[in-house]
Amino acid sequence: MSVIGQDIETAASLLKKGIAVAIPTETVYGLAVNAFDPIAVTSVFTIKNRPDFDPLIVHVGNHEAIRSFTRSVHPVEELLMRKYWPGPMTIILQRNDRIPDIVCSGLDTVGVRMPNHEVTLKLLNLLPFPLAAPSANPFGYISPTRPDHVDRQLGDQIPYILDGGDCSVGVESTILKVENDKVHVLRLGGLSVDRLKEDGFDPVVSDHSSSRPSAPGMLTSHYSPWKKIMPLKDGETPDETTSVLYFSRKPIRKIDRTLSESGDLEEAARNLFRLMRELEQENSTGILVEFVPEVSLGRAINDRLRRACAMG
Ligand code: TXA
Ligand code: MG
Repeated sequence: MSVIGQDIETAASLLKKGIAVAIPTETVYGLAVNAFDPIAVTSVFTIKNRPDFDPLIVHVGNHEAIRSFTRSVHPVEELLMRKYWPGPMTIILQRNDRIPDIVCSGLDTVGVRMPNHEVTLKLLNLLPFPLAAPSANPFGYISPTRPDHVDRQLGDQIPYILDGGDCSVGVESTILKVENDKVHVLRLGGLSVDRLKEDGFDPVVSDHSSSRPSAPGMLTSHYSPWKKIMPLKDGETPDETTSVLYFSRKPIRKIDRTLSESGDLEEAARNLFRLMRELEQENSTGILVEFVPEVSLGRAINDRLRRACAMG
């Protein structure tokens, strides 16, 4: 069992010693280490059982912090960072040697993000280094949105979970890359494509169903719990041993759940991973999931549901 606490100083002192600590963000909890310390970074791959071809996101507490480890920032990249940070947006930037190869799986780019969470922003601004942090779950499993989710899966491997309450967004950050002046969406997430369009960015969304992912770690089977999980077909009546995850329909049976009774996509995103975990614990043999409207955050929610179903 980890200690779950709210002491930023404790978290900072462990991180300075090269020890991994779970931290809250507005998207999901992260498993953080000093991004400049290759030995500490290696421990994160071991704890998560994560393959080393899957690069980590580096978290910063202010705009200036990226200067020491990135090269030649493009004006569109600058604009995206000014507009969406702190927030659920990761941007892929050119990096220098300050970042150890293991953080980026040897790529010459690094994913960077400034999370919008008061506790973690304070922590980051206390530290003399940025934090490399993947989601704080075993590799291939759904991400944690509460301290107890982290504790249940990684509690015997990390000493401290910094408690920042429930995540307010609930799905991982949107990953963007600027190429030839164009904004490419490498992973759908908490910053919606609709919002990017409203703001005039005209983003290109990659084909996420590809079995050869453009971003390492975009494997189809990501985010899956261990139970059998399948799409709920139109008009299908579930058998009595199968749970259903509805979008807005009020659940009738104890073994079912609903993402948002009022049909609110932000609430649905906030509840998604917690309810998937709950259904996994339920006394049912499988899970049927209902897809949500393919707009705004619904695109990221459906993306996570499709990945979960791909496990079969
Ligand atoms: O919301 C989030 O982004 C959370 C919180 C903790 O910040 N983090 C997160 O990290 O989701 P993780 O490790 O589960 O996903 C990171 C993904 C990788 O799997 C990869 O797809 C992409 O970020 N990525 C990282 N660096 C990259 C790079 N240089 N080029 C392309 N993709 C990269
Ligand atoms: Mg992850």
